[in-house]
Amino acid sequence: MDVTVTVNGTTYERDVEPRKLLIHLLRDDLDLTGSHVGCDTGNCGACSVILDRVLVKSCMLLAVQANGASIETVEGLSEDGELTPLQQAFNEHHALQCGYCTPGMLMSAKALLDENPEPTEGEIRRAIQGNICRCTGYVNIVEAIAAAAEAGR
Ligand code: FES
Ligand code: FES
Repeated sequence: MDVTVTVNGTTYERDVEPRKLLIHLLRDDLDLTGSHVGCDTGNCGACSVILDRVLVKSCMLLAVQANGASIETVEGLSEDGELTPLQQAFNEHHALQCGYCTPGMLMSAKALLDENPEPTEGEIRRAIQGNICRCTGYVNIVEAIAAAAEAGR
């Protein structure tokens, strides 16, 4: 089936099998390997992307369901090689250890801050509740998101 998606501002058209998951379209067909596969069952959040302004787990959607959508992935966060305040905050607050969960964490944090630029700690914790960090670095991740919110004020 033909699928057309716009990812980080670039439009792609691909012929995909109906059973192909969105995460595999991104990683295998579009070579956007920043979004990770941690479970394939909707539990870990490593594959999180923003689809038409809504945070989704891209292993829980078929590629064909994204037809016509505009998608933001971790590759689209920085512009011209410059880190965004959110990425800088993750770096400065040591909010990544192995980094496997980090792309999904960043997209969940971005979705939160796009909607709610001044979140409480509780709102930050709720926003990332679908993202598992197996290194259990949640304290630093929450601090980084709070710092990014502060920087955006
Ligand atoms: S790979 Fe999608 S939620 Fe884990
Ligand atoms: S930084 Fe290692 S899983 Fe999150």
